[in-house]
Amino acid sequence: MIILLEDLWKIYPMGKLEVRALKGVNLRISEGEFVSVAGPSGSGKTTLMNIVGLIDSPSRGDLIIDGREIKAQSRGGLTRMRRELIGFVFQSFNLLPVLSVFENVELPLIIGKRGGSKAGRRERVEYLLEEVGLAERRKHRPAELSGGQQQRVAIARALVTRPRIIIADEPTANLDSASGEKVLGLMKKINREEKTTFLFSSHDSVIWQMADHVVFLHDGNISSEQRR
Ligand SMILES: Nc1ncnc2c1ncn2[C@@H]1O[C@H](COP(=O)(O)OP(=O)(O)O)[C@@H](O)[C@H]1O
Ligand SMILES: [Mg+2]
Repeated sequence: MIILLEDLWKIYPMGKLEVRALKGVNLRISEGEFVSVAGPSGSGKTTLMNIVGLIDSPSRGDLIIDGREIKAQSRGGLTRMRRELIGFVFQSFNLLPVLSVFENVELPLIIGKRGGSKAGRRERVEYLLEEVGLAERRKHRPAELSGGQQQRVAIARALVTRPRIIIADEPTANLDSASGEKVLGLMKKINREEKTTFLFSSHDSVIWQMADHVVFLHDGNISSEQRR
């Protein structure tokens, strides 16, 4: 079990009120699974993705990633886990506009100081740009690419440190359906070839039907799960 959630709650304080975004979620994900979180807007998908991606913390309950209890980690330990285990893909791509495609993908290797030599970094980045079909665009700026191309750059960036888990929050929501299916197809290929565990959310049934494990989220609860 690479991801384990037990009775996980997220409560956002809102002045005197509170929003219960996750209400006791239980979830088990095995290594190598291709999992989709399906649910309408407001059901808690982003909250769940941010918590499992270690960007946000739960209010209550247990989160265990790769056998490590999150509550037991120091701040430094959490940062290390996030850098070493997890790649994150955002709905709005979040590429840095002043950097080229190549530099955007290379950046996590420089920040994490785990990229080795300049030549080693270059080899990894070029391999991934080839994988996502954007080798010829390496010198372009993000603004010169289509949305689908930008999201493929973001996937290459998420993969560059060889994370075991990729978390993608509505990665296709800002794409037309053809580009969205291409991005999903690319994620599936990486899942098959590298056994990377994927957890991605979507409100679109065409997208979640491409998963082999679908988790239906409704109002902060898992209403059902489907495995194929
Ligand atoms: N930072 C926040 N502060 C207060 N309420 C929030 C915050 N983020 C999300 N919420 C609320 O939590 C619920 C779940 O939101 P979210 O996780 O963004 O759902 P989804 O991604 O499925 O649209 C919603 O009711 C939303 O308004
Ligand atoms: Mg969301």
